[in-house]
Amino acid sequence: MTDIYTLNQRYGIQDHLHFTADANGMIYAEVKNRLAEARIALQGAHLLTWAPTGTAPVIWLSEAAKFAAGKSVRGGVPVCWPWFGAHPTQPSFPAHGYARTVPWQVLATSATQDGATRLVFGLVESDATRAQWAHATPVELHLTIGTHLECELVTRNAGTGAVTVGDALHTYFAISDIRAIKVLGLEGLDYIDKVGPSTLRKQQDAVTFESETDRIYVESVADCVIVDPGLKRCIRIQKRGSRSSVVWNPWIEKATKMGDLGEDGYLKMVCVESTNAADDVVNIHAGGEHRLWVRYSVEAI
Ligand code: BG6
Repeated sequence: MTDIYTLNQRYGIQDHLHFTADANGMIYAEVKNRLAEARIALQGAHLLTWAPTGTAPVIWLSEAAKFAAGKSVRGGVPVCWPWFGAHPTQPSFPAHGYARTVPWQVLATSATQDGATRLVFGLVESDATRAQWAHATPVELHLTIGTHLECELVTRNAGTGAVTVGDALHTYFAISDIRAIKVLGLEGLDYIDKVGPSTLRKQQDAVTFESETDRIYVESVADCVIVDPGLKRCIRIQKRGSRSSVVWNPWIEKATKMGDLGEDGYLKMVCVESTNAADDVVNIHAGGEHRLWVRYSVEAI
């Protein structure tokens, strides 16, 4: 379903949600309710922006982000699925899976009693997706846009054998300055340091940033909190169905090479990703399901 008129007729909600298209034919769900504003691209079911009413954006979107069919967008909440990072055996398959670069469809929308907007998206399978993933695993993303942002990635195993999935909500958070923030909730955990040769290290204190940072925290199940004195706020990340967290900032050299992070963009973003990454993969038995759920909320400090 890509026709804007039909989308608006069927799924638009007055004072909550309407759909728009850009010149490239990319389609967006535009949410504005009394609690928050958000924008979601149908490609990738990719949430691009979210700001509770009266607050600065919580989710970071690069000013140099590119919006084109089949390309991942720099920023927002990319959905990594059905593997995280490089494919375990097929180096030509895309990093972080294909879910973020293929069309998804709207399955349902509603307004909740407390004034939030709910949207359910389903990944549209095609010959191209089946060429990379032969399993019958319908996948949905459920979003609730309100004072909090909730995202739930639901994978169902509709096949006859077990499947193994890696996934992530690869969220880019908006911050005042990467050199001034810290991330709490990972103290005492082991992490795989991916900068340079992969090394296992232990996190002693809060995570702070002074150079490229790319880490997979193992057995990370507690809340993470981004403390941002510049914006006088904390962002709390609650999660379920995830036993690892990735913390990433490319720093200046890598950011410059990437080309879509914007000038000094690396100073304004940090990824704290709720993942099933590295050895933390999920086995789903036939008929079973896996739910990766996160809730982001903002607290003033
Ligand atoms: C992180 C990885 O999750 O995503 C990094 O740990 C990677 O290694 C980053 O560079 C961005 O990935 P991509 O594919 O969106 O450029």
